Amino acid sequence: MSFPPTKYMGSKRALLPFILDSISHLNFDSVLDAFSGSACVAYGFKQRGHQVHSNDFLRFAFRVAHATIENNGTRLDQDDLSQLLRRNKKAKTFIQETFADLYFNAEEDAFLDNLWANIQEMKNPLKRSLALASACRAAMKKRPRGIFTFTGRKGWDGRNDLRLTLREQFLDAVRQFNAAVFSNRRRNRAFCSNVFDIDPQPYDLVYIDPPYVSPYSDCDYTRRYHFLEGLCTYWSGVELMPQTVTKKIRSYPTDFSTKGKATDAFRRLFEHFRGSTLAVSYSSNAIPSKGKMVRLLKEFKRHVEVREIQHRYSHGNHNHKIGDNKNSVIEYLYVAT
Ligand SMILES: C[S@@+](CC[C@H](N)C(=O)[O-])C[C@H]1O[C@@H](n2cnc3c(N)ncnc32)[C@H](O)[C@@H]1O
Repeated sequence: MSFPPTKYMGSKRALLPFILDSISHLNFDSVLDAFSGSACVAYGFKQRGHQVHSNDFLRFAFRVAHATIENNGTRLDQDDLSQLLRRNKKAKTFIQETFADLYFNAEEDAFLDNLWANIQEMKNPLKRSLALASACRAAMKKRPRGIFTFTGRKGWDGRNDLRLTLREQFLDAVRQFNAAVFSNRRRNRAFCSNVFDIDPQPYDLVYIDPPYVSPYSDCDYTRRYHFLEGLCTYWSGVELMPQTVTKKIRSYPTDFSTKGKATDAFRRLFEHFRGSTLAVSYSSNAIPSKGKMVRLLKEFKRHVEVREIQHRYSHGNHNHKIGDNKNSVIEYLYVAT
């Protein structure tokens, strides 16, 4: 089984061998991926047989993790698909009205409105997450660079991903998520919380991969993925800002995205999880610096090792950075025991 690839900003998919290799000398069983994002790291831990908990404050990231990390055996079958695709008379038209011509065509907006109504009728929570994760993946695939920070067809090229209909993308996503489902015979869990609200337990290992505070990017995940976030609840419980061109929702506050607050947030985070071994991903063009990060970790842990690897983020989430050497960074993995 393999994990469906995405262009999620900051995804560690390409760095997974480096991360797993850097911690291979540690003796650990239970692990928390505290900022799970695309969930590819949590999935790597699950594949290695660990008991995995994952967390992200974005609902759409949670749905992916619920469908692939917590889920040890449930898949969407043909009957589920027929239920998801049939015409639903109770379907509302919020997406067609609010997002007309912004991201998708009228037929695709209607497809999403109808799909949402059908997903609500699914009783099994894991199936609901598989369907929502697939809907989000389909919507991402139909956007250049997978994001919702601009409207219309900017960056639209002949790529197959953009040519396929949203329905075709949805069916492909269901196939991919179904294929990713497996049991590692552990009770894995997915959470959707602010990281400070997670019970620190302690875990044997906590993997920490927060947004990178950088002078080159705002690292605001809600701003990039607001449409997916809204879609997960049909825009209930979020604040839609109707005056914005992109019809985005208000970003969730997180101190990890703010230059003036990040250092203190790291200190509080390390204190929160001080009972666990910590593995922290961070990069050379972000704040706090390497020296500062080691000092912060040493406030709570005895030994800190730093592993390094040259890395170029080429996902293209930051258009201005493509081909620019600010995109080429040293990735650090701080291992604190
Ligand atoms: C660098 S990404 C993680 C990438 C992930 N490791 C991967 O490989 O895809 C950082 C994640 O932190 C989440 N996040 C930011 N602040 C958070 C907070 N205070 N609590 C929980 N999650 C948060 C964001 O939604 C984002 O998905």
